[in-house]
Amino acid sequence: MSSAIINGKEIGQEIRKSVAERVEVLKEKGLTPGLAVILVGDNPASKTYVANKQKSCEAIGMFSELIKLPEDISEQALLEQIRELNDRVDIHGILVQLPLPKHINEDAVIATISPEKDVDGFSPVSVGKMMLGQETYLPCTPYGVMKLLEHSGIEIAGKHAVIVGRSHIVGKPMGQLLLQKDATVTYTHSKTPNLPAYTKQADILIAAVGRPNFITKEHIKDGAVVIDVGINRDEHDKLCGDVDFADVDGIASHITPVPGGVGPMTITMLLSNTVQAAEKKLLHDK
Ligand code: GUN
Repeated sequence: MSSAIINGKEIGQEIRKSVAERVEVLKEKGLTPGLAVILVGDNPASKTYVANKQKSCEAIGMFSELIKLPEDISEQALLEQIRELNDRVDIHGILVQLPLPKHINEDAVIATISPEKDVDGFSPVSVGKMMLGQETYLPCTPYGVMKLLEHSGIEIAGKHAVIVGRSHIVGKPMGQLLLQKDATVTYTHSKTPNLPAYTKQADILIAAVGRPNFITKEHIKDGAVVIDVGINRDEHDKLCGDVDFADVDGIASHITPVPGGVGPMTITMLLSNTVQAAEKKLLHDK
């Protein structure tokens, strides 16, 4: 029997509908939620991601502004741009598309975004609050994965979640969010010896390694829930995940496809975070 597909496109659309309703309510009160996206240089993948983010904002009636900066911009000039956006009343969320050129200190850039506008949830303040279980903006991809699990009725408490990958954007926060829902969490990464010995124990496996078709049936326990965060190109330049879908199909109980799994959820949660920022602003200004 085939594994059940977790359809991120459908679940994402359902959530976007309710986010669009929140946008309408805000607009009736005279406030249009606004997202500023900063793109430095012309990395083709980043350009595609940013274009999709903008399109999705406009589709639900939000304002979005793209700020394109040259590859050789100085760190100081970029920080100045962020400070201007921190002060703008029509901008509720700020996102700096990563990765940045090597001469720019990513940590300094992220720390300059005002925590009230940090809709990516990457700043030290946001990460600290997340670790403490306090209310904050959650990083969009792991937040989206939590919504996929919730909407698919997958129980988390008491389950063994194994994360493959330890990036700041996905792996690390993913483990924290699962831990907060009472999963037992194991982190694995590129230096973990005998990886299948760990992944085979997973009730919920999160693949966030960034290597095409890396996870195969040797890594999976019968009946595991497999979440594929990867967006890669295979040797035929075809979009694929970190999981070899055909190989694990029928072994996993549930699986997310690529495309159409986690991908649409990342932007959905970005929209949700930005609307939340605008809602907070309205409450604060009352
Ligand atoms: N690069 C890859 N994923 C992301 C993301 O979620 N946010 C930002 N800002 N950059 C990224």
